[in-house]
Amino acid sequence: MAEFTLPKNSKISSKGKVHHAPEGASRVKKFKIYRYDPDAGENPRYDTYMVDLDDCGPMILDALIKIKSEQDSTLTFRRSCREGICGSCSMNLDGKNGLACTTAIEDIKGTIRITPLPHMEVIKDLVPDFTHFYAQYASIQPWLKTVTPPPSGKERLQSPKQREQLDGLYECILCACCSSSCPSYWWNSDRFLGPAILLQAYRWLADSRDEMTGERLDELEDPFRLYRCHTIMNCANVCPKGLNPAKAIAETKKMMVERAI
Ligand code: SF4
Ligand code: SF4
Ligand code: FES
Repeated sequence: MAEFTLPKNSKISSKGKVHHAPEGASRVKKFKIYRYDPDAGENPRYDTYMVDLDDCGPMILDALIKIKSEQDSTLTFRRSCREGICGSCSMNLDGKNGLACTTAIEDIKGTIRITPLPHMEVIKDLVPDFTHFYAQYASIQPWLKTVTPPPSGKERLQSPKQREQLDGLYECILCACCSSSCPSYWWNSDRFLGPAILLQAYRWLADSRDEMTGERLDELEDPFRLYRCHTIMNCANVCPKGLNPAKAIAETKKMMVERAI
């Protein structure tokens, strides 16, 4: 399903610039990249970059780094680990949210259009503003909360089965690909926590060592924070780590029901 939606402050100008590949390049790929600089006082635009694939690494992040180093140093994007661990390079890649460092150029046919994550404020070019997303993350108190001292005096042990309950949750890299592809989050992100943060919230609900389950559920029991999920499943379809936030949300709703019985 195509999920291409422009960022919030978008009224695209037709004044895009074209950057050509070096003379003699034989395997040229065209990238159309969203450019926006709020300080310039101009509408966003798409710039076109022709990249010589014979002199470029295989991933979209390789192309972005090459463009920045050789064609246009003003192009702005986030990246750090370049191996799908830090979550920094999340963006919209030809209509689908993903990580630039783990998406191969050859997997996208024709011109590759790159925009920031949809429906988030843009700081510059491909860099969205994560302030609200991180504030929502902080709101779920993402750390182990206990009231009793550790039984052994040192560690809080888990059985292998208890530890397994965290699989599919702890791997989340907080890239926001899921939340920014969720229609409910687009329209209600001021109050709905969205799939990424709800998956993180469930990570602590599912942890056998945490002793604040009731309080955590109380915090989520709200018509917007949790219950704006309508099981549209975009979140699971885009997660670059293969996680399923919708399932974590369903498990949380189940816990709500069970404690009410
Ligand atoms: S399943 Fe829920 S959280 Fe996931 S995309 Fe749909 S509405 Fe959003
Ligand atoms: S659940 Fe997946 S898509 Fe969502 S923030 Fe975590 S890693 Fe990213
Ligand atoms: S650069 Fe770290 S996930 Fe892509």
